[in-house]
Amino acid sequence: MSKDKVQIFDTTLRDGEQVPGCKLDANQKLVIAERLDNLGVDTIEAGFPISSPGDFNSVYEIAKLVKNATVCGLTRAVKNDIKTAAEALKPAIRPRIHTGIGTSDSHIKYKFNSNRDAIIERAVAAVKYAKTFVEDVEFYAEDAGRTDNEFLARVCEAVVAAGATVLNIPDTTGYCLPEEYGEKMKYLKENVKGIHKAILSCHCHNDLGLATANSIAGVMNGARQIECTINGIGERAGNTSLEEVVMILRQHPNLNLDTRINSKLLYSTSQMVSQKMGMMVQPNKAIVGANAFAHSSGIHQDGVIKNRETYEIIDPADVGVDESSIVLTARSGRAALAYRAKLVGYELTKVELDQVYQEFLKFADKNKEILDADIHTIISATDVAIEKQG
Ligand code: KIV
Ligand code: ZN
Repeated sequence: MSKDKVQIFDTTLRDGEQVPGCKLDANQKLVIAERLDNLGVDTIEAGFPISSPGDFNSVYEIAKLVKNATVCGLTRAVKNDIKTAAEALKPAIRPRIHTGIGTSDSHIKYKFNSNRDAIIERAVAAVKYAKTFVEDVEFYAEDAGRTDNEFLARVCEAVVAAGATVLNIPDTTGYCLPEEYGEKMKYLKENVKGIHKAILSCHCHNDLGLATANSIAGVMNGARQIECTINGIGERAGNTSLEEVVMILRQHPNLNLDTRINSKLLYSTSQMVSQKMGMMVQPNKAIVGANAFAHSSGIHQDGVIKNRETYEIIDPADVGVDESSIVLTARSGRAALAYRAKLVGYELTKVELDQVYQEFLKFADKNKEILDADIHTIISATDVAIEKQG
């Protein structure tokens, strides 16, 4: 049975770029956009055109450049925002306007000093106006995570009737639990008239570390688009991480869902974005962190050397990482030492390995990590002469 496709909506260049200190120049944005297109994302949110002339130009240039993905520009439910986004998106082969408004009681009261009926009217007017420029209009119900489901369904029904093609249900504050977010999607699927005319989209923030789990709960309950960023960068604690959702769907075939992403480009794309934004990837970051395929404890190393699958659920090659690494520390055992020694040219007998291991432990107690050059030093310091092969 063929798998249902989950569309990947990448917002690295919009929500991701909102990270303090991570401003990209126009050229850097173009290079990243081209890479995202090659990676296979379905939609690139290129920016917020009304926010500055620089953002307008970047969206315009990206719209000219991108050949495969839909190019999207963000707006508020404000006429001038929408008109400006439409102008910036003019060169796009597949343009999308992303418009919306806050729907939670807190947003309605404090941001808009308004009421529910007036918010629905503004939402509908924004979608109708956007439809005069482009066919593909995505509507976001900001703070949907804290919007009660009945009202959210009313908003969704009204904007779908106005022509919205995608319904973005953002957990803007990262508040929801996965069950709750999944339940929200299910409720909308079951209670919004005309829902079959639109795609439900997950847009989750990571304030409680649940962005990825919430997005997966969303697609398990009927959503078919995930909004995410490379390395999970974004406002505050970030957005759903693209590489995580892609690999979760791939590693769990029983979900019967997949994306069009070329996963072999994930690691290099992560490195590229990190370098261009000047934002390091935390070493223990799932999928793309420096330690994601590194093994340092003796028990794990022994297992991985015997068979990689004992401690790895992903083949590193599938995400573009050359191979798993066996890191030598004071917690490493003989198997890891023999393995690394062999890689640098020493085939140790059991007796030799015992001797070298004693020397290794002394060295390892004084040093955090043992590098290839240190292996030569350690072996030279043992009493027996061990020949280097090759
Ligand atoms: O988090 C959010 O609600 C957003 C919207 C503007 C889509 O980023
Ligand atoms: Zn967001």
